Amino acid sequence: MLLSAERIKFGNTDYNILLHEDFRGLSEELAKFPGVSRYIVITEKKIASLFLKDLLKEISGLKIEIHIIYIPGKEKNKHIDKLKKTYHELLTAGADRKSVILALGGGVVGDYAGFVAATFLRGIRFIQIPTTLLACVDSSVGGKVAVNLDRGKNMVGAFYQPLLVYAPLFALGTLPKKEWRCGLAEVLKHSLLSGGTLFEVMKNHSFSDVTALSEITRIFISESVRYKASVVAEDEKETGKRAVLNLGHTTAHAIESATNYEKYSHGEAVSIGLVTALFLSVEKEGLPSPVLDIAIEIMKKYTLPFRDQTRPEKIIRHMQHDKKTENRILKFVLLKKVGEPTWGNAISEMEILEALNKQAKLA
Ligand SMILES: NC(=O)c1ccc[n+]([C@@H]2O[C@H](COP(=O)([O-])OP(=O)(O)OC[C@H]3O[C@@H](n4cnc5c(N)ncnc54)[C@H](O)[C@@H]3O)[C@@H](O)[C@H]2O)c1
Repeated sequence: MLLSAERIKFGNTDYNILLHEDFRGLSEELAKFPGVSRYIVITEKKIASLFLKDLLKEISGLKIEIHIIYIPGKEKNKHIDKLKKTYHELLTAGADRKSVILALGGGVVGDYAGFVAATFLRGIRFIQIPTTLLACVDSSVGGKVAVNLDRGKNMVGAFYQPLLVYAPLFALGTLPKKEWRCGLAEVLKHSLLSGGTLFEVMKNHSFSDVTALSEITRIFISESVRYKASVVAEDEKETGKRAVLNLGHTTAHAIESATNYEKYSHGEAVSIGLVTALFLSVEKEGLPSPVLDIAIEIMKKYTLPFRDQTRPEKIIRHMQHDKKTENRILKFVLLKKVGEPTWGNAISEMEILEALNKQAKLA
C-alpha cells in the first residue's frame, strides 16, 4: 500500500520518492520505465537474507532478467578499491546501457551502488530501495553518491539522481536500535531546520512510538524527505543553501575522528554536534535558549546522546582537519530560530571552546 509520495524536482530532472508498506507496488512502478534489458540488484548478503526473496517474488512477473551482485557491508567496504570487482561482475552479468541497478540496502549500499550506476558505461539508470531509517530520510534523497578513499569518506563521488526511490517501510522492522538512533538524529536535524509539523511531532513523541509501520515513523520519513527535497531542489550541487543540511556536522565529524570512529555511530555524533550548534546559535544568532532545552529533552526521549567528555581542545584540533575547514576558519550552520537556519557562519576557536565547555557541563 502506498503510504506517501513526494516528487523531487530540479533543472530538467524529477522523480518520485515513494513510501510503501512493502514491495507490493514495486513492479507497477518499475513498469513505468520501459526499455530495460535487465535488472541488477546490488545488495549485502545480510540484507538479501532478509528481503531478497520478497523482492524477487514481486518483480519476477515483469519477465525481465534479474542478476544479483553482493557487496560486503560496512563503511570500510564503501571503498574505491572494491569498484573494479563490481564493474567486472556487471560485465559478467551482461549489463549494458539499458540495464537498471536496484540498490537494496542502507546508505552504504545506496551510495556505493549509486556511484557504480553513475560511472559504469558513463552512467546507467538506478533505483534506490532504502532499508534503514537513515537511508529513507537522508542518503537516498538528493542524489549524492560516493565511495571512500583511504584518506577520507565520500572523497570520490557524483551528483547522480535515481529514477525512483521506493522505500518499503516493513523492512525497518528488523533494524537494530542503534541504527534507528542513527536515522533519528538526522530526523531531529531536519526538524530543527524545517520547524513545523516535524518538530512538533518529534517533541510530542518518544522512541517507543517509532516502529516500522507506525504513523509516527511515516511522518518522520515523509516530512524529512519533503524538507530535504525542497533544499536540494534549490541547490542540487551544494553551492549555497544545501549546506544547511550540515547542521551539527562540524562537531560530529570532529568527535567521530577524535574517538577513532569507535565510540559513536555517525548519528550519535550528529546528535552531540547539534547541541554544540545550538549553544553557538544562542550566542551568535539570538536563538531563544528554551529551544536548546527542548532539543535536549527530545534527545533524552529518543535515547540520543547530547554531550561528550572528549577534551574540547582535542575536538577543535580535529575540526581543523575536517575537509570543510577553509584557511583554519571554522564554518558553522546555525539557527536564528527553529525553521530558520543560516550557513557559512565563521566562528572563532574561542567561541567554539566556550560552547563545548558549556555542553560538557550539561546534566
Ligand atoms: N548520499 C548522501 O546524501 C548520504 C547522506 C547521509 C549518509 N550517507 C552515507 O550513508 C551511509 C550510512 O548509511 P546507514 O546508516 O544506512 O548504514 P549502513 O548502510 O551501513 O546500514 C547500517 C547497518 O544496518 C544493516 N541493515 C540495513 N538494513 C537493514 C534492515 N532493514 N534490517 C536489519 N539490518 C539492516 C546493514 O547491513 C548495516 O549493518 C554512510 O556511508 C554515509 O556516508 C550518505
